[in-house]
Amino acid sequence: MLSIRSLLFCIGIFSHVAITAAEHQLTLPKFEQWYHSQEQEQALTLELRDSFLKLQELIAERSPEQKKQRGTHAKGHCITGTFQVLADDELSSAAFARKADLRHGLFAPAYIDEVLPARYRFANSSGRVLPDFIPDIRALSIAVQTHERLSQHFAFNNAPHFELKDLQTFVDVLKMGILVAEGSYKLTAFAKLAWHAGLRRAFAAKAAVDMGEEDKAIADSFSNQSYRSGSTFALGGQPVKLGAYPCDLQVQHTDDLVNKTITADEAKQRGADYLGTQLVSELQSGGICHKLFVQFLDETDQYHHGFDKELIEDTTRIWTGPIHTVAELQIAGEQLSPATCDDPVNGLNPAKVHIDLPGLGQINRARSLIESASRAAR
Ligand code: HEM
Repeated sequence: MLSIRSLLFCIGIFSHVAITAAEHQLTLPKFEQWYHSQEQEQALTLELRDSFLKLQELIAERSPEQKKQRGTHAKGHCITGTFQVLADDELSSAAFARKADLRHGLFAPAYIDEVLPARYRFANSSGRVLPDFIPDIRALSIAVQTHERLSQHFAFNNAPHFELKDLQTFVDVLKMGILVAEGSYKLTAFAKLAWHAGLRRAFAAKAAVDMGEEDKAIADSFSNQSYRSGSTFALGGQPVKLGAYPCDLQVQHTDDLVNKTITADEAKQRGADYLGTQLVSELQSGGICHKLFVQFLDETDQYHHGFDKELIEDTTRIWTGPIHTVAELQIAGEQLSPATCDDPVNGLNPAKVHIDLPGLGQINRARSLIESASRAAR
């Protein structure tokens, strides 16, 4: 008779293998490729998960609250609101021309004119809860609840790309992050990585960190930022990227997506939590309105210069071209406590996707396992 321990061990293996195998498949092989191989990608995904959990732990140990936060995007504000898919006569002529490709999943005719309940979370990007005058990337995540209790989640950053080009670079960046969290100087962490992984990987990790630093800024407010998915999804079999922009902006092209920023002095005068304070006052004066857009790969300048799978696998590649507005986001409801925002059933869970908008590329193939692990650990 198997002992409890060995039984638990078996369950652990099977449940682990089941999770990884299920997530690790090429949804659109025509547009995707494994990072070296399926096995190597699975191994890197597990290494990335373990590194995220390690960093989450180290940050908690050194934080005044001694509490585990999200592995990233730790400082956030959660608000209820609505999500409304635009009807055909509200689409631009360019969007109307792509109706057959657009009308899938949450954008399908069944949801037109439905005012769907949604939960919005504006956040920083760091895994630490820091003052808002510290430059950072800002994020918007959305959970839309359909009447069939299906839910679609979107997770966007106000940067034109996701700075981690592949899973190996992501693992190496976290390795340096862990060394720094354990007390090493950044240069020592870089040297230690170069010693263990070689100069080429160390410089690739440094380039990703530098790119992230370049994308960081001091936002004027969460409401006047343009947010993007950074990674690619499949809509009706077409590779797309998504995002959201303020309703008072006229946006037909990615060049029109802008972020309003302020100086560090201005931000310091406003205080350490000015973004949250402003959010409350914007909610009191009618709320925040954003529009959701879809960008088709086959309409981008990069695609016209010749398609390569790196346009999907490498999330640092920026797609420039026309965008199509497909829904209106009214962020005007009540502010929710972090606990309610995170409750496992209805909480924000970027890993929970509607079947018709699966993630593409190694970054999306890996993220749900890691985002779920981070959530389970806190
Ligand atoms: C391999 C790729 C990725 C990994 C490993 C990853 C990891 C994580 C982790 C650990 C969390 C915290 C989960 C929690 O504890 O609740 C998280 C949340 C989040 N991620 Fe990612 N992420 C990845 C890709 C992306 C991309 C491409 C974007 C968008 C550009 C993104 C945007 C977000 C946002 C906005 C949240 C906060 C969600 C919320 O409000 O709860 N992530 N991610």
